[in-house]
Amino acid sequence: MDLFEYQAKTLFKEHGVPTALGEVVTTPDEAQAAAGRIGGVTVVKAQVKVGGRGKAGGVKVAKTPEDARTNAEQILGMDIKGHTVHRVLVDPGADIKEEYYISYLLDRSNRTFLALASYEGGMEIEQLAVERPDALARVSVDAIEGVDLAKAKEIARAGKFPDELIDPVADVLVKLWDVFVKQDATLVEVNPLAKVGDGSIIALDGKVSLDENADFRQPGNAALEDKDAADPLEAKAKEKHLNYVKLDGQVGIIGNGAGLVMSTLDVVAYAGEKHGGVKPANFLDIGGGANAKVMADGLDVILGDSQVRSVFVNVFGGITACDEVANGIKGALEILGDQATKPLVVRLDGNNVDKGRAILDELNHPLVTQVDTMDGAADKAAELAAKG
Ligand SMILES: Nc1ncnc2c1ncn2[C@@H]1O[C@H](COP(=O)(O)OP(=O)(O)O)[C@@H](O)[C@H]1O
Ligand SMILES: [Mg+2]
Repeated sequence: MDLFEYQAKTLFKEHGVPTALGEVVTTPDEAQAAAGRIGGVTVVKAQVKVGGRGKAGGVKVAKTPEDARTNAEQILGMDIKGHTVHRVLVDPGADIKEEYYISYLLDRSNRTFLALASYEGGMEIEQLAVERPDALARVSVDAIEGVDLAKAKEIARAGKFPDELIDPVADVLVKLWDVFVKQDATLVEVNPLAKVGDGSIIALDGKVSLDENADFRQPGNAALEDKDAADPLEAKAKEKHLNYVKLDGQVGIIGNGAGLVMSTLDVVAYAGEKHGGVKPANFLDIGGGANAKVMADGLDVILGDSQVRSVFVNVFGGITACDEVANGIKGALEILGDQATKPLVVRLDGNNVDKGRAILDELNHPLVTQVDTMDGAADKAAELAAKG
């Protein structure tokens, strides 16, 4: 789960990472009032979960509370890379002398954690990584040892911070590690970390991604969820305990087992190229329980997606045998009745495949087409989606 800047900086504060945090508001009136309370120069910042807000015009300095109001009028409702701005953060204005970059992330490919640090901030980090890779230090962090003061100094030195900044930056790095570990984050990023007028070092921006697998031991996470932005289909799927991710295509996908569903997405994307570029509409893993209820819930969510034009049910019978799955599909079609409106392409294989296929043959439902192979079924589903 990605957090908004104001949420990230709230966590920073709780863990002692120095930052300047003002007030989050949703109207120009409130922005003006907040700027009045904060006093002096303020900065009005769009709260959207995407980087590059500054360049997009979503970060604006306000000399007076009236300016803050004008800025908020312009920024609220703005579209930044497909994200609508519903809230702005009114922050105390910082007198920036220098901008740096630091972050911790989960380095999946090396099964470890990674610290990134650079004395040369201010530029987008992706650009820095490409254009000046030697200016961006990558220091691996042992999960057990973590980041103590000595390690933090090593990271700061690798990031080419000058001598006088090693101690203050190391201090921030230690505290930021505390955020990373205690909050079960997969990413904490400060860009920019800034040296301001009085010489102190503060986090001006904050990006945090939390590991949802740790929700069970992070009771605070529920409150951080952005209910407004949650996709309604994903919310519905979550209620039904389905493992569903909405994508942008036209072919609905249901499969059992995450690996099979992932490869189904691939074959559908591939087959779709021949049919006008249709793409998978979702990821949905119904796991082992492919009974009628789960199948009906899954179909219900997928058919609720107005972009979907065909559905590919791809099941490899294991512990849940194909005949149970076929009965599940049959039961789901009964439960859904008139709500089932899109063609279903079903590919069954594995345990009790003959019985499963026989059940669907006998059902002879006008919406259901059986195809024996995964590639063939993907092609059929893509073709039907393209026909619309
Ligand atoms: N409180 C602040 N005071 C002064 N300048 C700021 C402040 N917050 C951000 N900025 C400036 O705006 C730039 C962009 O803001 P940032 O929060 O990093 O958003 P993004 O990374 O989405 O563009 C920063 O690099 C910094 O120069
Ligand atoms: Mg930034």
